[in-house]
Amino acid sequence: MTDDLFSPLSLRETELPNRVMVSPMCQYSCEDRDGLATEWHRTHLGSRAVGGAGVVMAEATAVESRGRISPHDLGIWSDEHADALAPVAEFVREQGSVPAIQLAHAGRKASTSRPWEGHEPLAPEDGGWEAIAPSATPYPGNEAVALHEMTPEDIEDVIAAFQSGAERALDAGFEIAEVHAAHGYLLHEFLSPVSNDRTDEYGGSFENRARLTVDVVEAVREVWPDDRPVFVRISGTDWLPDRESWTREQSARLADLLAEAGADLIDVSSGGLHPDQQLPAGGPNYQVPLAEHVGAESERDVGIGAVGGITTAQQADAVVRNGRADLAIVGREHLRDPYFALRAAKELDALDRIEVPKQYRRAF
Ligand code: FNR
Repeated sequence: MTDDLFSPLSLRETELPNRVMVSPMCQYSCEDRDGLATEWHRTHLGSRAVGGAGVVMAEATAVESRGRISPHDLGIWSDEHADALAPVAEFVREQGSVPAIQLAHAGRKASTSRPWEGHEPLAPEDGGWEAIAPSATPYPGNEAVALHEMTPEDIEDVIAAFQSGAERALDAGFEIAEVHAAHGYLLHEFLSPVSNDRTDEYGGSFENRARLTVDVVEAVREVWPDDRPVFVRISGTDWLPDRESWTREQSARLADLLAEAGADLIDVSSGGLHPDQQLPAGGPNYQVPLAEHVGAESERDVGIGAVGGITTAQQADAVVRNGRADLAIVGREHLRDPYFALRAAKELDALDRIEVPKQYRRAF
């Protein structure tokens, strides 16, 4: 039987009740500098679990304080951070959704103000901090951010920070850990030859550029229980066809390496590495062909998530039904409508295949 949007999906011993995932979306809503989850995060993620999504993925959560995009990002670099996140995971699970968290490091895109404050680079004297990257080349436009090329010790620290972040995420009650290796943040900066000029074993060849992402996934897998899935979000391409850059062909090769390292699903996004990117306009399904490509070309049996421009029930259902991806990941439409999955079930005549919260039954 063909799978559709409301078919459960088993990954290891974790069962996703349906194929809708809330895409990770930064809320920039922590108190200045502390990285602790607030009432905003509980309500924001909780209401999307009430809305019926099979997986609710918490936003990019920094594994080190210098890996935050802004001073207001969520963090997981201490046990206090895990304690603040635990009620989020618990509430999401109580609604029948699978609680998930994206573990992140912003690399050279760290130390900026929030989008609604102009997304300006913050120099240390303006409340910023020293960022790290594979090479000391700033993100174009962010030259004001202090930056240094990562030393071998920095590399070890980052791998260890992702591993401790995963351990804390587990303590907090999350069932899926996603490693953020997309959008021009630290791991993607290593993957792409555009931002990686290293001459050691972490730069140069494809295998060398992929090494840190693979090391991080292995380190997370080491502490993440065998019965729970690990996801990795990648950028399927840099959208920089005019220069040697990260491509969809390399993404498919990377998917194989990540699957060998213990990843269960590759969440395929794109871009974010360089402002010259030639990103398509962002219309319906704009990144789905990349997800489809990675799935078709990968030699491993790894799950695929598609994201980007999925806004209707019919579209999300078709992505799964046509075998283009295993998960339909929905971002901005979930900001417009936290009840996307419930509404989709109603529109697709599948209300008998989703748990409608009893408090809301009169509406469905
Ligand atoms: C995002 N996006 C994003 N991606 C990610 O991997 N981690 C993150 O924390 C964020 N943060 C974020 C915040 C906000 C406000 C938006 C709108 C987007 C990207 C997001 O997850 C998604 O991939 C894109 O928005 C494309 O999907 P949609 O919105 O077209 O469904």
